[in-house]
Amino acid sequence: MSTTATPGRLAVLGAGHVGPVIARLAIKAGYPVAIATSGDPEDIALITELVIPGAQPRWASDAVADADIVVLAIPLHRFLELDPGLLSGKLVVDAMNYWRASDGVLEAFEDGASSEIVARRLAGSTVVKALNHIGYHELEERARPAGVPDRRAAGVAGDDPVAVATIAGLVDAIGYDPVRLGSLRAGRMLQPGGPVFGVAATPPEFERAVRADAGSLA
Ligand SMILES: NC(=O)c1ccc[n+]([C@@H]2O[C@H](COP(=O)([O-])OP(=O)(O)OC[C@H]3O[C@@H](n4cnc5c(N)ncnc54)[C@H](OP(=O)(O)O)[C@@H]3O)[C@@H](O)[C@H]2O)c1
Repeated sequence: MSTTATPGRLAVLGAGHVGPVIARLAIKAGYPVAIATSGDPEDIALITELVIPGAQPRWASDAVADADIVVLAIPLHRFLELDPGLLSGKLVVDAMNYWRASDGVLEAFEDGASSEIVARRLAGSTVVKALNHIGYHELEERARPAGVPDRRAAGVAGDDPVAVATIAGLVDAIGYDPVRLGSLRAGRMLQPGGPVFGVAATPPEFERAVRADAGSLA
């Protein structure tokens, strides 16, 4: 399992709204980044060169095979088409949300923490929820180096402490104060309906919102 604390290679699956932003921020932070859709990398070669300079467009399977960290930046309903075997043995960042308006009704995701359901489907992977709760425009605009006073917080939720540490390192490197939530189940605080969804809060605001909501995890 690739859960190193040093910057590793990223495969970003999804080249829509949020995938390119995550890719750009990660490149800026020094991570080698490959980006993929469900199709031919040739189809995104030009746009990648223009909007994500430095990222390598690849077939998803090739990008994943060489990656230390795989970021799922695809709509949740498309995730259900993804072969879990592709991600086996990988550290996976679930940046997805269950959003009925675009996903339709997905019965499996109607209750609970969506990342727990994602993790059950990806039983051979280590799943950490992160980078899902800040809109893509804001994610890029609010990114700041460590120590800058108006730096914002971003949540990281997972059950594997080493994996959580690795993704907290990624979140920190791309411009946010990582706030570790205790478990993948606690990742529901980051999802739609949760107290920090759609919010780029300061670390104290984030901690307060999460503490106030902690009762809902009981
Ligand atoms: N938009 C935001 O501000 C934001 C912020 C944080 C998190 N999120 C979450 O991130 C996810 C993606 O949102 P989005 O707005 O970026 O979606 P989007 O604009 O619709 O883009 C989705 C991308 O995923 C690709 N894709 C679909 N199936 C794939 C597969 N099996 N393998 C590789 N790539 C695949 C699509 O390309 P092809 O169809 O060509 O394969 C497309 O490039 C959602 O769950 C959303 O809730 C969004």
